[in-house]
Amino acid sequence: MNDTNLFSPSEYTAALLLYIRQHAERVHACRVLEMGTGSGVVMATLLALGAESAVGVDLEALAVQATQNLLTQEHLLTRASLVHGDMWEACGDARFDLVVTNLPQFAAEHIEYDGRLASWSAGGPDGRRHVDQFLKGLKHHLAPNGLAVMTHNVFLDVNKTQAMANSLGLQARVAYCASAPLPLQKLASLSPEVLSRFTGEGLHRVGEYWFVDFDLVEISWKHGEA
Ligand SMILES: C[S@@+](CC[C@H](N)C(=O)[O-])C[C@H]1O[C@@H](n2cnc3c(N)ncnc32)[C@H](O)[C@@H]1O
Repeated sequence: MNDTNLFSPSEYTAALLLYIRQHAERVHACRVLEMGTGSGVVMATLLALGAESAVGVDLEALAVQATQNLLTQEHLLTRASLVHGDMWEACGDARFDLVVTNLPQFAAEHIEYDGRLASWSAGGPDGRRHVDQFLKGLKHHLAPNGLAVMTHNVFLDVNKTQAMANSLGLQARVAYCASAPLPLQKLASLSPEVLSRFTGEGLHRVGEYWFVDFDLVEISWKHGEA
C-alpha cells in the first residue's frame, strides 16, 4: 500500500465533493476552510472551483503531506495554506465564507480498519467527540454570511447537532441523505449497545452486507446572530 492508497477517500468525502460541485457559487472567490484534509481531494476541488484562498488543517502530518502532494500535482498550491494542527487551534482568528469537513465520527474508540489511525474515523463512544469540538469553535470562524457543510452519520443524532447549533446561535439543516457500505471491520468495532440501538434505524443489514446512513448537514448563523 502506498501513501495515496493510505488516504483513499470514503463515500462520505465523495458526497461532500458532489455537494461542493453542485454549489460552486459558494466556493468561487470565497475564503474556504477544510477541517481534516486527509487525501486533499476536497481542498483540490475547492481550489479548482476558484476559491479565493483555501486553508486545510489536519492532525496527521502524513495527511498534510498527502494534501500538499496532490495540490502540487494539480498545480493548485498557490492559493492554499496547509496547517498541521489540532482543529481550531490551527486557525488563529480567521473567519471563512465556507467551511467543509468530514470529521472522524464513527461511534467507536478504537477502529482497526485499512491500516488507518483511529484519528481517521473514530469519534468516541457516541461518535460526537470531534463534531462537538468543531461546532463549539465554528461560531468564532464562520463569516457573517458563511456556511459550514459537514458529513454527519446516523450515530451522531442530527437532533443533538441541531440543539447544539441552536444553543450556539447557529442553525443546522439536513441538505442531503445517503447511505454507504459499512466494512465488517468497522462494524466489529461498534459496541453491542450501539449496534442494537441503530440496527434498522440507520444501520441496515442485507444478507452479509451492512450499510450506514449519513447526511450532509449545512450550518449557518441564525438570523441576527452573526
Ligand atoms: C474521515 S477523514 C477525512 C479526510 C478527507 N476528507 C478525505 O477523505 O480524504 C478525517 C480527517 O480528519 C483528520 N482529523 C482528525 N482529528 C482532527 C483534528 N482534531 N484536527 C484536524 N484534523 C483532524 C484526520 O487526520 C483525517 O485526515
